Parts: sequence; C-alpha cells; structure tokens
Amino acid sequence: MFKLATNDTFSLGDRRVRRMGYGAMQLAGPGVFGPPKDRGAAVAVLREALAAGVDHIDTSDFYGPHVTNQVICEALHPYPDSLVIVTKIGAIRGQDASWLPAQEPEQLRQAVHDNLRNLKLEALEVVNLRVMGSPHTPTEGSIEKQMHALAELRQEGLVRHIGLSNVTAKQIEEAQRIAPIVCVQNHYNLIHRDDDALVDALAQQGIAYVPFFPLGGFSPLRSAALSHIAETIGATPMQTALAWLLHRSPNILVIPGTSSVAHLRENLAAATIRLSHEVYAQLDAIAAMTE
Ligand SMILES: NC(=O)c1ccc[n+]([C@@H]2O[C@H](COP(=O)([O-])OP(=O)(O)OC[C@H]3O[C@@H](n4cnc5c(N)ncnc54)[C@H](OP(=O)(O)O)[C@@H]3O)[C@@H](O)[C@H]2O)c1
Repeated sequence: MFKLATNDTFSLGDRRVRRMGYGAMQLAGPGVFGPPKDRGAAVAVLREALAAGVDHIDTSDFYGPHVTNQVICEALHPYPDSLVIVTKIGAIRGQDASWLPAQEPEQLRQAVHDNLRNLKLEALEVVNLRVMGSPHTPTEGSIEKQMHALAELRQEGLVRHIGLSNVTAKQIEEAQRIAPIVCVQNHYNLIHRDDDALVDALAQQGIAYVPFFPLGGFSPLRSAALSHIAETIGATPMQTALAWLLHRSPNILVIPGTSSVAHLRENLAAATIRLSHEVYAQLDAIAAMTE
C-alpha cells in the first residue's frame, strides 16, 4: 500500500504533521447536510487515509451537522496518538441546510462541546475560529469578542491551540494580541491567489497556512493550461494542482476533500510529484491567465 513520506512535515501547534492531510467535509450528505450516501464508503476513505500515513484531518461539527464527526469517530476512535484532528467553530446549520453565523461566546462554547462529544475527545488539538461574513472571502471587522471566548476555552484546557479561518491579515494581528495562532485556513488554490502575500507572511512566522478548496471545492478546478501541463508530467490535473500547492511554500498543509477511495489515492500520490522550476513557473502563471 502507498505510504506518505515521513520527512515532509510542518508544525501545527506543538505537533508536526505531514503536509499531505485530508479534509473530511465531503463525507456528509449532499450540500454537506445529512448522512452520507454510503456510510461504509465514508468510513473506508478515513481508514485508508490513516493507513497511508495521513496524520492531519480537518473537520467541523457543522458538517452534517454532527455527521462528519460521528463518521470520523466510528472509523478511527480510539485515535492513534499521531493523529491531529483540527476542527472549526463559528457557524450552525439551518433546517434548510443554510450556514448561519454562531459567533457569540456561548455559541462558540457550545460548538466546542459538540465537537468534544461527537469526536469522543477530552480536548480539541486545534480549533479554527471560522469567521463568517462573505461565504468564502474574508471581510474586515473585529474578532476580539470571539478570540476572548476561545482564549478562555484554551485556558480551561478544552482547546489546545487556536487557528483562524476566512480572515484578513489585520484580523490575524488582532487575534495574535489575544492568544497565539497556529494556523490559518482560507480559500486558496492554483487559480484563486488572493492570499499570496499572506501565505508568505505566515511562513515567516512559522504559522501553517491550510488552503480550503485546494481543488476548487464545489466547482473543481478546470483549466486547459493545467490539463496540458498535467499531461506533460504524467499526472492528473488534480494531482498537479496539489503538487503546485506543496511546492508553493513549506508552511502549506493540504487537506483535499473526497468521498471516494479512488480519488483519495490519487490525491495522496500527489505528495510524490517533483516539479521542475520550469513546470512550477508554468503552473504559477495560470492564475494570471484566468483573471
Ligand atoms: N474553513 C472553511 O471555511 C472551509 C470551507 C470549505 C472546506 N473546508 C475544508 O477544506 C477541505 C477541502 O475542501 P473541499 O473538500 O471543500 O474542496 P476540494 O478539496 O477543493 O475539492 C473537493 C471536490 O473535489 C472532488 N475531488 C477530490 N479529489 C478528486 C480527484 N482526485 N479527482 C476529481 N475530483 C476530485 C471531490 O469530489 P469526490 O468526493 O467525488 O472526490 C469534491 O467535489 C474540506 O474537506 C474541509 O475540511 C474548510
């Protein structure tokens, strides 16, 4: 069976994780709501990921809601010591599958308890505060109140490390005045490059940058140039997009999401792709071509 290399890692809090991880959002039902079509397949994806050496899984109790965490628990509990499960709080789901902000201190506390219960954990290793506003683009605004609530949960030992999601550089600075931030999870991929400067700034601080939608998310990346380059290096476009992210900066941890074992295997194998300077530069130029 394929195994991820052990030497390509980055720090996440006080742990080191492999830079190729797994995002569990696709394990809930359609629209990230309700149960998966095939629960056995969802369990199989998680077990295969771990068997291949994945030690970083991204989740949230608002996926499903509750469903994704319950599937993770069913598939993997008791968890190996090496596994870092990162979760996120800051939203709840409406009856109609909508994503509603839940940023009040009591709602954040409730979300931490929901995650603890459904994952069967006594403390959460990393919790990302998911800032709402525009769905996939950060919007300025103070996050002081939310950060104080998280800092309190950290002091109580329910949360070990704090991360941020869907945030601006200014919000990161504001948060860092309240508590240490170990990772940032924003929308970023080969084509969506708004955070280029932020990725580099976080690398300087040794903070992990974890792009969400690494493959384009709900509308997977499509580009003739990407397909052409992928063909020349003997990889699929999705593998090539992941390889570009892994080459982009050492602080990038990837969490591609899939509900399929076949796609999981394809994605994990991207960790073995070595891009020449020339191919990297060609991939790097695609975003400017698609603007
Ligand atoms: N912080 C946030 O606000 C936020 C937002 C979104 C996501 N996330 C996190 O980021 C993770 C990754 O994002 P994502 O899952 O939304 O998007 P993604 O990884 O960019 O793409 C997932 C989509 O690509 C498909 N896919 C995956 N591998 C493929 C392959 N090899 N070939 C063809 N299609 C493939 C998946 O379908 P199949 O299931 O059919 O493979 C799914 O439709 C999530 O799982 C979640 O943990 C966080």
